Amino acid sequence: MNYKEKMLEKLKALKHKSEVLILAFETSCDETSIAVIKNGREILSNVVSSQIDIHARFGGVVPEVASRNHTMAIVNVLEESLKQAKVTLNEVDAVAVTYGAGLIGALMVGVNFAKAIAYANDLPLLAVNHIKGHIAASYLAFQKLEPPFVCLIASGGHTAILKVTDYINHIKIGSTLDDAVGEAYDKVARILGLGYPGGPVIDKLAKKGNNNIKFIMRDNLLKTNNVSYSGLKTAVMNYVNNKKQKNEEIIIEDICASFQSAAIDILVEKVIRVAKKQKLNSIVLAGGVAANSYLRERIDIRCSEENLTAYYPQISMCTDNAAMIGAQAYYNLINEVGLADLNLTPVPSIPL
Ligand code: KG4
Ligand code: ZN
Repeated sequence: MNYKEKMLEKLKALKHKSEVLILAFETSCDETSIAVIKNGREILSNVVSSQIDIHARFGGVVPEVASRNHTMAIVNVLEESLKQAKVTLNEVDAVAVTYGAGLIGALMVGVNFAKAIAYANDLPLLAVNHIKGHIAASYLAFQKLEPPFVCLIASGGHTAILKVTDYINHIKIGSTLDDAVGEAYDKVARILGLGYPGGPVIDKLAKKGNNNIKFIMRDNLLKTNNVSYSGLKTAVMNYVNNKKQKNEEIIIEDICASFQSAAIDILVEKVIRVAKKQKLNSIVLAGGVAANSYLRERIDIRCSEENLTAYYPQISMCTDNAAMIGAQAYYNLINEVGLADLNLTPVPSIPL
């Protein structure tokens, strides 16, 4: 029996075990995170070591710097995660790791580390798609939530409306044609000199501003389920340049409130429309932008008007973390999907 066949046998046996502990790794971008998850729904630990402060001075994530910092942090994060979960490596049943999408060098650190832990401890290794992980964050927050549902993925790298048909499969119903919504937040923050990451600071400043500047999204997309953010970003840039040229006052809070409303309102309407068309009553928000207070407020209002239910995890579970990877890995295990061997290599981009 070769390594993979042996691990498949182990994986099959785990399906009948009442308590399955998964040690999960996430290093796709600028968070080094390791979690221990029980039966896909219970967090025993979820340690996140963020590099945000390191990258903030560069105005965005520097890939090589991210890889080096993962390498430096990962051993301590592992020790802390096992300690908080009160388990030893001997008690872990399987190892899971994000294999993509993400920064290749950053992914490589997590993938190689997870491979070594799996091999040394004779444990099955499960490869998890980062985006599926973001969706699974809501399984940890809502114990009764089950597919099918409509999911809005809104992160720094992706923006899409999905029909999640079961724990493994989804159908893409709409997506951005250019920038992701989180990317638009980060770029607008950069234009306004607000630093990185842009989402949280725009979210905060928008609360003090008026939505009185008309930044228009591409209106020919209203009838489709797709969105486009590059025009909105350019509109903000032109507005700011114009004001500067005329020496007129720039009210940053108003720009934030107006940009945010333009970016989010249309997305919310499209998600609601998809849920109604698909006859699905549950809408799940996933990804870093799901932490946005205005998005959460708008989806709640629109869902209650339309008799739908909105689900979104607590803010710390919207941004990158390993708990969500461990949750998805459990469903991969149950469905015998994503069993990897020592040839596993990171994949920087995975189509949705
Ligand atoms: O999911 P995530 O942590 O990483 C990716 O997989 O991309 O998302 C990061 C993105 C960044 O663009 C960040 O600006 C945005 O999520 N973000 C927010 C908020 N918190 C994070 N955007 C809007 N409002 C927030 N409160
Ligand atoms: Zn992410």
